[in-house]
Amino acid sequence: MSSNKSDFSKEIPDLVILHANELVTMDSKIGAPRVGKAMSELAIIKDGAIAIKNDKIIFVGTSDEFLKKMKIGNQTAVVDATGKLVTPGFVDPHVHLIFSGSRENELSMKLAGKTYLEILESGGGILKTVRETRKASIEDLVKNGANILDKMLQYGTTTVEAKSGYGLSVEAEIKSLKAIKELDKQHPIDLVATFLGAHAIPPEYKGRTDEYVDLIINEMLPIIEEQSLAEFCDVFCEKGIFSIEQTRKILLAAKKRSIKSVIHIDEIVDTNGAALAAELQAVQTGHLLQSNDEGLKAMAKEKVIATLLPGTPFCLMMKDYAPARKMIEYGIPVAIATDLNPNCWTESMLMVIVLSCYNMKMSPAEALTAATINAACAIQRESTVGSLEVGKKADIVIFDVANHYFLSYQFGVNLVSKVIKNGLIVIEN
Ligand code: NIG
Ligand code: FE
Repeated sequence: MSSNKSDFSKEIPDLVILHANELVTMDSKIGAPRVGKAMSELAIIKDGAIAIKNDKIIFVGTSDEFLKKMKIGNQTAVVDATGKLVTPGFVDPHVHLIFSGSRENELSMKLAGKTYLEILESGGGILKTVRETRKASIEDLVKNGANILDKMLQYGTTTVEAKSGYGLSVEAEIKSLKAIKELDKQHPIDLVATFLGAHAIPPEYKGRTDEYVDLIINEMLPIIEEQSLAEFCDVFCEKGIFSIEQTRKILLAAKKRSIKSVIHIDEIVDTNGAALAAELQAVQTGHLLQSNDEGLKAMAKEKVIATLLPGTPFCLMMKDYAPARKMIEYGIPVAIATDLNPNCWTESMLMVIVLSCYNMKMSPAEALTAATINAACAIQRESTVGSLEVGKKADIVIFDVANHYFLSYQFGVNLVSKVIKNGLIVIEN
């Protein structure tokens, strides 16, 4: 609980936050991504201070150290965080950002006992959203995405992974990825683009999944590489959607084009997705409700990140959640994300933290690690975000609560007081 990093710079800060009751630095000196017991080490500074110049952090330490060693200039904005919690901005590493329309009608089907795959097979679910997304203009998609990102920022999220995946044609997938590029330019939140052309079998390819896989490999991936439209390639690997073999084929083709692997695995059925993720040395995987032990151990060995998405079983009214405790015990780096999509629509990482604790038995500290530094690792942004350290981006959240336990305790309300993105106060509640 002491100051663990200081840069006694001669610079005059633009902004200083003083007297934070708890300054959760998540200083990643102990290694990122964090595994096992290290997931509980938040590197908290009591009576913490953090100083910012331009868009970067130039000091992290106690308020005493700051006042002794650094100067406050005429132009320096000072924020008093007495009694408050300060953390790194949340990183949301699994988001289906680009879509049109909504699916609130599906709640009554779920209440009547219909499963996710039954809704999909009857032309609802992802395929309903695909029909609407194909019709939307790029401007519509950007507008919808911006509305979502605005809410995310209000809830303390400052970096987001954004997936395509509701186009499922060359034209509509490229349109979706271009919408992500445009949003990244327009919006204060930083985006990392993921191509999810293999999200479902488009209706015109029904019964011809292999041909659709070829379309992804031969027509979509070359354009994506040429126009630098995505850093990651994702596949919904699931019984009845894309098989292990098809998933491997797509991700290896993407890898050849330097597009890194992400996979939706073992959400409904264990198809041995975890073993495939380890084999391909995927950067991160989503869901993992049904993964077998051997696969999980292989993931731990390869340090594949498990991004757990408890909002989805919550929305699907499932009783099972991903076995987070076992994963942490095995040494798998665990991250958490909203999985925001028209089936599971929440912008709030606070909600996900609560679900992680109550339904996956993660501790408040583990959940916060999973939402910050480990989430940054899941999109390979740990050198710039996910912790509060000198030289990193000044992406910071001030919460109107005294300590980090409250984030897992007081739920259903927005606890954010201020959000600082790239050194600027962008949200003040
Ligand atoms: O991660 N499972 C696949 N894809 C999304 C859901 C997409 C949708 O239902 O629209 C997920 O949960
Ligand atoms: Fe997802």
